[in-house]
This record gives sequence, C-alpha cells and structure tokens, in this order.
Amino acid sequence: MLTRKEFLKAILLAAAAGSTTLVQAQTASKTLVVYYSWSGNTREMAQAIAKELKADIYEIRTVTPYPEAYNATVDLAHEQLRQNARPAIQKDVPDLSQYSTILLGTPNWWSHVAMPVFTFMDQNDLSGKVILPFVTHGGGMSSCERNIRNKYPKADVREGLAVYGSSFSLDEIRQWLKENKIG
Ligand SMILES: Cc1cc2nc3c(=O)[nH]c(=O)nc-3n(C[C@H](O)[C@H](O)[C@H](O)COP(=O)(O)O)c2cc1C
Repeated sequence: MLTRKEFLKAILLAAAAGSTTLVQAQTASKTLVVYYSWSGNTREMAQAIAKELKADIYEIRTVTPYPEAYNATVDLAHEQLRQNARPAIQKDVPDLSQYSTILLGTPNWWSHVAMPVFTFMDQNDLSGKVILPFVTHGGGMSSCERNIRNKYPKADVREGLAVYGSSFSLDEIRQWLKENKIG
C-alpha cells in the first residue's frame, strides 16, 4: 500500500514522463530547408521555399571554397566525383532531431548531387524523416533524386522538384508543397 506521499510522488513522476514525451513529439515537428549552392541558384530557391514555409534554413558550406572560375570548379568537381571524394564541410549543422521534414536542395553536378551534399548526407542520418529533394540544373534532375533516395532507404523521400537555373516560380513551389502536404 502506498503512503499518501508515495502516491503523490508517483503521480508527479507519471505527469513528468508524459510531458517529456509531449515535448519530444513537439520538438520533432519542425521543417528545415538544407541546401548547397555554388553560384547562387539553389540558394535563391532555398530562400524562397523557406520564406514560403516560414521554415528554418541551413546552408552547407565547404571548409575549402571551390574556385571562383566556372571551368576550374567543373573540372575539380569531376575529379572529386571520379574519386568518390567527400570534401570537408563546416560542422555547424543544427540539431536535426527537432525536424521531421527536411527539404534538401542541391545543384546538379555531373548528373549527381553536388559533392558537399554527399558529404552532408554521409554525416547526417535522416532516417524516419520526410525528405523533399529540390534541384537546380542546366539540363535536368539526372540522378540527384536517386542519390538522396539511395542514401536514405529508411526515410520518406518524396518526388523532387527540378528547375532550370534560377527559373523557379512561386506557383510551382506552392503546388509541389501542396502535393506533398507540406506547409
Ligand atoms: C561543377 C558543375 C557541374 C555541373 N554539372 C551539371 C550537369 O551534369 N547537368 C546539369 O544539368 N547541370 C550541371 N551544372 C549546372 C548547374 O547544375 C546549374 O547551373 C545550377 O543551377 C547551379 O546551381 P548553384 O547556382 O546553386 O550552384 C553544373 C555546374 C557546375 C558548377
């Protein structure tokens, strides 16, 4: 038989446990836009998406910047892809446990996600989250969405949105978010 004091303590502990669960459920409900951009197109799109959703935004940045010249970056990226390299990225990624939905943006680099995005994906497990890939390109989605799908077999990866350069429209972003019941 519990004393009155033990009984009250048990109730308080149960209430505390319940509220912890509630807090955890609430903290894992936010939306984050994560992107890498070399020449600004994907950044522009990421900012538009984040603004539309009033979501947090995080830019993947390399420790060593890519060259400013287009051809030099194209060549370096090709070499890195050939070597399956993972260029170092800044380690200031926010606590991802508070996010249930991640919109992951990348330029198309040699038909794949940009190498810094491969690094980000290797370092951050997004299993269990909803992921919406978005891609800016000079020719198409290529393997970008597949790269993300393959990396996270235990995530709910939705159909990505691919746009040429910075030619996105707010209407198509809204339509894509609506189709995926995000926002
Ligand atoms: C290193 C590099 C490789 C690229 N490879 C491709 C490609 O294979 N296919 C494609 O459609 N566009 C390719 N592009 C064009 C970019 O995907 C396109 O310009 C994109 O919008 C750039 O995004 P950003 O401004 O966010 O860096 C490449 C650009 C760079 C710099």
